[in-house]
Amino acid sequence: MIEKTLVLIKPDGVKRGLIGEILKRFEQRGLKLVGMKMVWIDKNFAKKHYSAHVKKGFYKNLEEFITSGPVVAMVIEGIHAVEIVRKIVGSTEPKSAEIGTIRADFAHVSYDYADKKGITIKNLIHASGTSEEAAIEINLWFKPEEIYDYKTAHEEHVF
Ligand code: PPS
Repeated sequence: MIEKTLVLIKPDGVKRGLIGEILKRFEQRGLKLVGMKMVWIDKNFAKKHYSAHVKKGFYKNLEEFITSGPVVAMVIEGIHAVEIVRKIVGSTEPKSAEIGTIRADFAHVSYDYADKKGITIKNLIHASGTSEEAAIEINLWFKPEEIYDYKTAHEEHVF
């Protein structure tokens, strides 16, 4: 039941100075950060991360965007972490994401607007969709020795 999930703060989140604000939302929920680093990925790596989307019409713009600056990659651990993190992040399209989620509180772009303008959806965050996806993505982004096992001070009361 204790799961790990992969979260990326994408180049828009890094460049807008939202790293601390985003991190706070996971920490305040009692989720545990067990791995974190800043990485500037290249197109080959982007194809591996977004392998499910490489053939889609929006991929070229997505690849350009995700390689346009550094991202902050994190492994987050907690009870049902995959589902809880996705809830905190909100749905993919900022326009329809629930207010109170990261994507709704810091963005508002729609698919319609992005597609008409020929730009990618800038939605600040990537979070693994399923526990199977999380395992694959954590393995792609992190070496086992970059993930730490430790106890948080408040773990007794949150876990
Ligand atoms: S999700 O969040 O993975 O479940 O969303 P999904 O729709 O399956 O994944 C699509 C990823 O591509 C990014 N993206 C777009 N999707 C659809 N339409 C457009 N125009 C578009 N532009 C970018 C979307 O943000 C998803 O990436 P991540 O990194 O998971 O958010």
